[in-house]
Amino acid sequence: MLWTVTKALLRVKQRFMGLIFRMINPPVPKLISGAGSIKKLPEEIKKEGLSHILIVTDNVLVRLGMLDGLFAALEKSAIAYTLFDGVEQNPTIENMEAGLKAYLDHGCDGIVAFGGGSPMDCAKVIGALKSHPNQSVHSFRGYFKIKNELPPLFAVPTTAGTGSEVTVAAVVKDAKNHEKFGIGDKRLVPKWAILDPDLTVSLPPHITAATGMDALTHAVESYISRISFAIADEYAEKAVRLILANLENAYDNGSDIQARNNMLLASYYAGLAFTRTMVGYVHAIAHNLGGLYGIPHGLANATILPYILDYSRKDAQTRLARLAVVANIGEKDSSDETLSTMFIDRIRQMNTKMGIPSGFKEIREEDIPLIVKRTMAEAAFAYAPPTLMSASQCDGMIRKLIPG
Ligand SMILES: NC(=O)c1ccc[n+]([C@@H]2O[C@H](COP(=O)([O-])OP(=O)(O)OC[C@H]3O[C@@H](n4cnc5c(N)ncnc54)[C@H](O)[C@@H]3O)[C@@H](O)[C@H]2O)c1
Ligand SMILES: [Fe+2]
Repeated sequence: MLWTVTKALLRVKQRFMGLIFRMINPPVPKLISGAGSIKKLPEEIKKEGLSHILIVTDNVLVRLGMLDGLFAALEKSAIAYTLFDGVEQNPTIENMEAGLKAYLDHGCDGIVAFGGGSPMDCAKVIGALKSHPNQSVHSFRGYFKIKNELPPLFAVPTTAGTGSEVTVAAVVKDAKNHEKFGIGDKRLVPKWAILDPDLTVSLPPHITAATGMDALTHAVESYISRISFAIADEYAEKAVRLILANLENAYDNGSDIQARNNMLLASYYAGLAFTRTMVGYVHAIAHNLGGLYGIPHGLANATILPYILDYSRKDAQTRLARLAVVANIGEKDSSDETLSTMFIDRIRQMNTKMGIPSGFKEIREEDIPLIVKRTMAEAAFAYAPPTLMSASQCDGMIRKLIPG
């Protein structure tokens, strides 16, 4: 009885949030795309009249020499820059505070985020801290807490997965209690997105797989959300079509520029979709596995996605069947039951082919109540999944993710 009432209240709240998300109509960054497009960045920075850029990235990318071309191009254009390469995977509050210090110490007036979702999210929050003096990262937690415009932010994704270059979101890890939380505000959308497939060629297959499945999860969770609507559906369909046709090629042959380019576009479209509709339980659980055990975000999503789709099958069957048709899986006139099963099977096959596990031995029995509590709280805050989970159903779901 209590659960029935809670469900009804949640649905009312979701409808309300859905209306708000629709009204917000987030801005879209200026898109610069195609092989070699990073070369256009200095010109854009100059046009904006900026004199000193903070480059936010991680030290793996610096060690790989991936920024050398950018450094040279900035120097040639007489644009001063400061390098902040202290971003960890699942970026922490400390990373963001250190980035702000670098920004202020060097008198920067703009930010280039170069890397995967971790540097892009870190850069967004550095920008928010700069434009809200004396506020903490925690003060931005939740939605609509960013009152002032950020410094000009250029996003250069080097993974094809998060879509952070186009979303209203930044995900933060509080290292003190191992919790990940989200910040959502349209002022976090970068002003420029540079999608250069040459920068993703160096991605090793396992990161290509995990990040690509993150993009697929964005598109699917957006599409089956109760608050999805026409424009978001169009973006999600484009993303699913591109991912199912290109991800395994990019995984098999990292130098396949066409596949790399299509995956960057897919990630961008998936971002455009879910920034309007939010995500669902897959992400809510994945954030906990990232916060508690450091499991990479995309990997967690990839593993969890088929379980949640199985769970939601009854309510999401028509939508999943439509995605199967969009992705050329199965015959159009097959039943929704058949097509939706084929779609979920296809995700499992992709996972198996790309070496993605079907569970995580890191999950500890004693952590399950905390994971359930945090998952339920995150989902209840803003997501509108097709089938709601009670705490005990969520507990059962987490247990399915423990191998053997
Ligand atoms: N803001 C959003 O809308 C949004 C959406 C989804 C996820 N996220 C967040 O993004 C983060 C995950 O981002 P991610 O999956 O892109 O991974 P990431 O940025 O953490 O990078 C993962 C690893 O890949 C390496 N890497 C990145 N690009 C590379 C390249 N071209 N060649 C070789 N190595 C490369 C990095 O150095 C790092 O070691 C999580 O914190 C997640 O919660 C944010
Ligand atoms: Fe994600």
